[in-house]
Amino acid sequence: MIIKMVKTVKTCFNHTNYKIYIGKNILEKIDFYHKSLFQNRPKLITYDKNLYQTSTFNILLKQFGNKTKTIPIKPGEESKSIKSLEKLYNNLLSAGIDRDSVIYALGGGVIGDLVGFAAATILRGVDYVQIPTTLLSQIDSSVGGKTAINNQYGKNLIGSFYQPKLVIIDIDTLSSLSQRQMKTGYAEMVKYAIINDLNFFKWLEKNGKHVLNKEDKCLEKSIHQCVSSKVNIVSKDEKDKNERALLNLGHTFAHAFEKNSNYSNMTHGEAVSVGLLLASKLSNKLKYCDLEDTIRIEEHLGQLQLPTKIQNLFPKNIRANDIIASMKLDKKNYGNIIRFILIKGIGKAFICDKVKEKDLKEFLIENGAI
Ligand SMILES: NC(=O)c1ccc[n+]([C@@H]2O[C@H](COP(=O)([O-])OP(=O)(O)OC[C@H]3O[C@@H](n4cnc5c(N)ncnc54)[C@H](O)[C@@H]3O)[C@@H](O)[C@H]2O)c1
Repeated sequence: MIIKMVKTVKTCFNHTNYKIYIGKNILEKIDFYHKSLFQNRPKLITYDKNLYQTSTFNILLKQFGNKTKTIPIKPGEESKSIKSLEKLYNNLLSAGIDRDSVIYALGGGVIGDLVGFAAATILRGVDYVQIPTTLLSQIDSSVGGKTAINNQYGKNLIGSFYQPKLVIIDIDTLSSLSQRQMKTGYAEMVKYAIINDLNFFKWLEKNGKHVLNKEDKCLEKSIHQCVSSKVNIVSKDEKDKNERALLNLGHTFAHAFEKNSNYSNMTHGEAVSVGLLLASKLSNKLKYCDLEDTIRIEEHLGQLQLPTKIQNLFPKNIRANDIIASMKLDKKNYGNIIRFILIKGIGKAFICDKVKEKDLKEFLIENGAI
């Protein structure tokens, strides 16, 4: 077994600090990490059922031993529901979980969000470790401690801030990930660059295709860059009162699209991709940013074949009023004002509470809604 260099990002949050390891083949060291941090405390593996046949799952089980209790979770956004949560609580309790146990969450953002929320609430809180296996979860959802499930009123409306004790990002786990899911994660990568890092955007313009081709060096560099950026933003505003809201660039649109599609037909990252371009177009319409920036973002997403238009997400018409109604349910709003993250240029995102509903409706109709 050859373990190449491991990059480490240390978090520094209010009540807890933990490490995020990024590298190739590092899952092979999971038992060592467990023992260093938790000694002989019992472990429970929760995992996305789609991973059952993959080398990722096999390595984890081999490292921890075949007798380790494992709990499969149905893949897909539908699993972020109260029903699946209840099932998970029951499975954890029947597996004999106690406060000394450590829960491992193996999978993408769905598993991380659901299991994280279960860990936060079962027995009033049990330690958990994230092993993200999608690009999106490696650069975003596994970091920062947001855990949540959806309900009929919208996405992530029930949840908690609950930090894991450790995050293991093994880029090898991406070997089984589809191109569609790679692009989904890539949209969030572009988001970080647009928020506050023009140089990273330039780097992505050159290297984006290598990231999508899963080239080790490019993956490691870009994942490390995004994780560091997220840790930096979250450490200034863990509870999402201010600066952390910047991470929602594109998401006011994206969450509304996902809600209106009933969380089917599109991935989260595809909705984010369209949301990013719309946020920059809206910024341009409201005269905050130049047209060149918008064109540059559109070209970059387009060159890598990420969706950029509302019509790419909704083959049938979608009503502007329905999008706006969903936006009004966003957690980040204050009163009746829909909060947007807009840009003054690539690398210069800011929070904007000044978008008028009338202008928003006109903008959505100009961009493909009816
Ligand atoms: N907590 C946060 O801060 C945060 C941030 C961003 C997104 N999210 C949430 O994350 C979720 C999206 O996460 P996601 O994009 O990872 O989706 P996901 O967890 O649904 O995974 C996408 C698909 O990839 C499959 N998969 C996972 N790992 C694989 C692998 N290694 N090989 C092959 N297939 C694999 C899954 O079975 C699934 O079909 C959304 O619910 C979103 O709200 C949370």
